[in-house]
Amino acid sequence: MGIEKSISLFVLLGFAAVGVSGTPDYRDALTKSLVFFEGQRSGKLPPGQTLNWRGDSGLSDGSAEHVDLTGGYYDAGDNIKFGFPMAFTTTMLAWSVLEFGRQMPKELDHAREAVRWGTDYLLKASSALPDALYVQVGNPNEEHKCWERAGDMSTSRPVYKVTSSNPGSDVAAETAAALAAASLVFRHADVHYSNKLKETAVKAFAFANKYRGSYSDSLSSVVCPFYCSYSGYEDELLWGAAWLYKATKNSSYLSYAKSLGINSDSDSFSWDNKIPGACVLLSRDYLVQKNEEASEFREQAERFMCSVLPNSSSMSVKYTPGGLLYKMNGSNMQYVTTTSFLLSVYSKYLKASKQTFKCDNLVVTPAQLRVLVKKQVDYILGENPRGMSYMVGYGENFPRRIHHRDSSIPTIRVSAEAVGCDGGFPFLYSDKPNPNILTGAVVGGPDENDNFADDRNNYAESEPAIYINAPLVGALSYLAANFQL
Ligand SMILES: *[C@@H]1O[C@H](CO)[C@@H](O)[C@H](O)[C@H]1NC(C)=O
Ligand SMILES: *[C@@H]1O[C@H](CO)[C@@H](O)[C@H](O)[C@H]1NC(C)=O
Ligand SMILES: *[C@@H]1O[C@H](CO)[C@@H](O)[C@H](O)[C@H]1NC(C)=O
Repeated sequence: MGIEKSISLFVLLGFAAVGVSGTPDYRDALTKSLVFFEGQRSGKLPPGQTLNWRGDSGLSDGSAEHVDLTGGYYDAGDNIKFGFPMAFTTTMLAWSVLEFGRQMPKELDHAREAVRWGTDYLLKASSALPDALYVQVGNPNEEHKCWERAGDMSTSRPVYKVTSSNPGSDVAAETAAALAAASLVFRHADVHYSNKLKETAVKAFAFANKYRGSYSDSLSSVVCPFYCSYSGYEDELLWGAAWLYKATKNSSYLSYAKSLGINSDSDSFSWDNKIPGACVLLSRDYLVQKNEEASEFREQAERFMCSVLPNSSSMSVKYTPGGLLYKMNGSNMQYVTTTSFLLSVYSKYLKASKQTFKCDNLVVTPAQLRVLVKKQVDYILGENPRGMSYMVGYGENFPRRIHHRDSSIPTIRVSAEAVGCDGGFPFLYSDKPNPNILTGAVVGGPDENDNFADDRNNYAESEPAIYINAPLVGALSYLAANFQL
């Protein structure tokens, strides 16, 4: 009786804390944001898999080229393994751990596991270096005509690669960035693995740099418009060099990064454009380590901050009436999470170096950056005009009809028979909720007026993606540490 009483009191107080302070449960959201990655796994699933509606899939991926390319992540609601966004996702998961690993003690192992599921695959994709890098499994034009579970895939699994004669500096340098960042994640936890990641990163970067070109030129029909390298490959050379510099401490990579002479006013950071991320990453060398060589990156990083801060006269992005950063009508949430991540990191660097900066006359403090991060992440978690959480399984009111094949089709555990290429379409067009909850998935999100359809066919709003969640892992850890319930 006494115990029961204290439990109910605890529960009451818990609810009171949420209601009064308006602070979401960032730790719960953090746990869920990582569970999501289990739901995107390709390959043979491990015993610890908690999202048990997903089955094994893609078990002969790579056989078309006589290599083992099993494992890795599906990018979003389909069953293609796109190497370019997968590598970016892995880099962002690793960066999240490097900056905020101490703020996620309970989730650190899960975050490392999520990184490793990516890097185990990227190491396989790198097995033919220095001659080739495997960059994709599956033809999206063919696969997108079907709606079936990954485990039942009936479409062919062609393997695509970049080589010296069909180069892909963008995808190769992003792969190098992912391997280098992950080598730092495992530098104490698994020294052998860490060294292997670092050595492979050096090779992938040398390949990217030696054979210059964009992978969209030779692979246009299967990577465009899906993950076309719209911004070219120079931004990935900068980003890759920045991560190689961090991982190897070899200053020739910093000199190389400077020699690219990139000077950008970009206000968006994504799987396509890495410049703001690279500049924030390298600004730490100037701010915290007082390395004058990196001062130009600090300047560019601050131009990025000024381009997104609502009170800055040089703001170039838009916000919805409800206060959500709004870049575009497809998968907009990816810009919300990447921006929130960079603001979190920059706020941390400024605080560590006891600095502020200016956007014209506006003096910006670490606390102001944090306010904007909180506003954006709180919006995702339900503090918005519709009272809708855009993270599946978080809160009461969340998207029920996400654009995701395995989430929308009854699991093999319920119905073992393969649905076939066309057999899943009734589930796509049904207005019933998805039978399988893809816990932690953050969807593309509302339109520019804060409206959201929760319609499986509206993939621009209802499709989740691995590169939406990865930066959110870092931002949630940052907020969990700064705003305790
Ligand atoms: C630093 O990296 C450059 C470029 O990859 C390489 O040529 C050089 O040998 C490296 N230096 C050291 C000390 O490892
Ligand atoms: C997104 O906006 C573009 C340009 O305004 C428009 O052509 C396109 O149809 C919109 N897409 C969706 C899914 O609303
Ligand atoms: C912008 O200015 C308003 C009014 O001074 C302030 O309340 C708000 O916190 C500022 N926003 C940010 C993101 O700094």
